[in-house]
Amino acid sequence: MKVTVHRRAHFNAAHRLYRPDWTFEKNEDIFGKCNNPNFHGHNYELIASVTGEIDPETGYVIDVKILKDLIKSEVEDAFDHKNLNVEVPEFKDLNPTAENIAVIIYNKLKAKLESKFQLEITLYETPRNFVTYSGK
Ligand code: NI
Repeated sequence: MKVTVHRRAHFNAAHRLYRPDWTFEKNEDIFGKCNNPNFHGHNYELIASVTGEIDPETGYVIDVKILKDLIKSEVEDAFDHKNLNVEVPEFKDLNPTAENIAVIIYNKLKAKLESKFQLEITLYETPRNFVTYSGK
């Protein structure tokens, strides 16, 4: 019997979407306002979803405290109030789109979770725009 435990978290971060190997005009064409050279911010909402068997002793799939602490150390401490392009090494050469941020978060959390768990990341960049990634 597999159950999914979800933990919601939040961080604010700034970014700019562009490719340095493209002209400014091409970046404007593809990324529009997101190519603003002065960066812009988002209030990101994260849902980390962990699926596994219920432990018959504790009744838990995972102690939510473990998940909460992992999100704090791997995501909030690393991304919150940061400029993703400038201050977060994972995005030095990777465009910080919602898609890529979700993959980076997945990889960071998956590496710290017991391998028996399946993980899915849901990342809202705005209340209406969100992406999901589960390692496929
Ligand atoms: Ni943006």
